[in-house]
Amino acid sequence: MIITVDGPAAAGKGTISDYLSKKYKLAYFDTGMVYRAVGLQMVLIGEDLSNKDAALKIAQNMTFPQMMELSIHPDFRSDIGSHAASVISVYPEVRTALLKMQQNFALNPVFADGTPANGVIYDGRDTGTVICPQADLKLFVTASTEVRAERRHKEFLQKGIITTYQKVLDDMIARDERDCNRSAAPLKPADDAVIIDTSNLDIEAVLAYIIPLVEAKI
Ligand code: CDP
Repeated sequence: MIITVDGPAAAGKGTISDYLSKKYKLAYFDTGMVYRAVGLQMVLIGEDLSNKDAALKIAQNMTFPQMMELSIHPDFRSDIGSHAASVISVYPEVRTALLKMQQNFALNPVFADGTPANGVIYDGRDTGTVICPQADLKLFVTASTEVRAERRHKEFLQKGIITTYQKVLDDMIARDERDCNRSAAPLKPADDAVIIDTSNLDIEAVLAYIIPLVEAKI
């Protein structure tokens, strides 16, 4: 069983994916991590984000262990890491270099401790359109920009990251714009995706809608 969950930032993809991965014993791949890892590595070595060749070199050499190591850095999920990921993910060559690493995950799905999983759940922007077009179930989760910015602002405050709602909103608009308008793998639902707008739904309502869709595929 392969499920893809795509959509813009803070739409609820992570919460949905985490829940479904536990309930159905699916190995979870948060594909945003690969772009965050490349972007953060650029920042850490002081490379300008406009240097496409440098980003490509890092992408070509990116491994799972290096990605996991970078993921514990405080800027991995901060606005710095988010911005860097958003900029380098526009480069088509960088996306191509990171493609196989993401696709191979579904060949032998295992959990972090090595135990076999019943399948895979991918979370990202292009997992239903590019990474895994053959997925059994494709979800496209979205919400209004204001609602998403509010959720992300709250998350930052809970983590002790001091920022303003306006800054989170502005960053989100800029990232959406880059994700939707890039030439390679723009953010859009797959033709056969189920689109879910979570603006006015809490997580229980979203899951109550999705679970029957998953059960129908089992
Ligand atoms: O958690 P959030 O939704 O804010 O971001 P993320 O999923 O960690 O992704 C970080 C950035 O990586 C996004 O803003 C996208 O620009 C890029 N990304 C992408 O291009 N393709 C993916 N499959 C996943 C992420």
